[in-house]
Amino acid sequence: MSSNDLIEQAKEVLDRNKKEAWTSPSPVYYRHQWLWDTAFIAIGISNYNPQQAARELLSLKRGQWQNGMLPHVIFATRFHDMLKGPLFWQWRKSKLSSKKTVTSAITQPPMVAIAAAKVAKELKGEPKIQFLKQVLPMLESYHRWVYRERNPEGSGLIVVIHPWETGLDNTPAWAELLKQMPRPWWVRFLNKSGLFEIVMRQRKGAKMLDPDERTNNLEIMQAARLILRFRAQAYVNKAIFSSKPVATESLAFNSILIKANSCLIELAEQINYQLPQDLLENFNKTKEALNTLWDEDTKQYYSRDFSTKKLIKTPSITTFLPLFSEGIGKDRAEKLVKNLLDKKKYWTKFPVPTVPLDSPYFNQKRFWQGPVWINTNWMITRGLEHYGYQEEAKQIVEESINLVQNSGFCEYFSPLTGEGLGVKSFSWSAALLIDLLSSDGS
Ligand code: GLC
Repeated sequence: MSSNDLIEQAKEVLDRNKKEAWTSPSPVYYRHQWLWDTAFIAIGISNYNPQQAARELLSLKRGQWQNGMLPHVIFATRFHDMLKGPLFWQWRKSKLSSKKTVTSAITQPPMVAIAAAKVAKELKGEPKIQFLKQVLPMLESYHRWVYRERNPEGSGLIVVIHPWETGLDNTPAWAELLKQMPRPWWVRFLNKSGLFEIVMRQRKGAKMLDPDERTNNLEIMQAARLILRFRAQAYVNKAIFSSKPVATESLAFNSILIKANSCLIELAEQINYQLPQDLLENFNKTKEALNTLWDEDTKQYYSRDFSTKKLIKTPSITTFLPLFSEGIGKDRAEKLVKNLLDKKKYWTKFPVPTVPLDSPYFNQKRFWQGPVWINTNWMITRGLEHYGYQEEAKQIVEESINLVQNSGFCEYFSPLTGEGLGVKSFSWSAALLIDLLSSDGS
């Protein structure tokens, strides 16, 4: 199939998944609007319809909380899915939530400014100015929120309080922390008796997915318990941080934030929009502090456990995201690339697995614990290109195209066989493939 045919197919997926101004990740399984999905979707769409891409991003404004937070989900309906839906979150428990729009109460990686920079690049003339005028206040107040509420010790490294805030729901660093959390009797009971499994299977769309390809039930229950705790604390970050939270200085979140901060500065300059000095100082702090997540013994980056202040040394694909931040030195980039090209770890038939082959966590089918995702491949490709590794980037792009050509726009893929896994016709797989196929990159 030619690149043009593939792009046409990808556009069709995105058209089918479009709701209103926004596009759902998958109307059959993920019916709502997700924060970082919207950013990836806008990046893809901007290549052929920048005005629509602008509307996608600006649609996030309706869910923005009064304190500036952009929530990880904006719900399409008020009453849907007891377990992870609006009734569970009760976003109004926060006095500073969005007024009307029903949302979750945590965030997701700050991809939005990165997507806005790409959209602004594609827009011209008056529509571009209008877009910048509308998007900048939303982005400024979000980045301010990030630093005001999630930088409790002022180190510059942002603290995430929930695995879903990393975007990589069951990534090993968080799986480790959830394992260490106490398990009350009812969690043990629900897990052992299989009752939780029965409830989970009743959720809409759940029957089409193999439970072995998803987050395991114990991890979901522990993740849900964290939310119940935040809810009881009215989603007040000060209260959450003073009650010894399970939390990390997340490598994924902070790497993406560094790139997003640079994009925000670049966007502001285009219309002489003044960003406050203290915010700019914080941006520099994050860039410097990222280096403290490096471990010289194993020559890679890790997330840090916020309570013990120790690096969580379970390797995962996040070690490569500092390349995407563009904020690290060439020597460290070189060490990362050496690790990436190791055939016993990450350089599989279809790179890049989310967990290295030699990790006890590796499972070619389980969500973020092994499979290849198009968004992580996209971020790594962009990072490699920045540091001058064009050849390696090209190979990842080619294999990503092969994956989609052979298996469709699946949510994720086996790094060993290329088999398509998770939901089909997944929006960011389509959107980012378009971006990878577009000649000049983002
Ligand atoms: C899953 C993914 C998350 C994504 C969401 C919607 O929860 O882990 O990253 O945003 O699905 O696609």
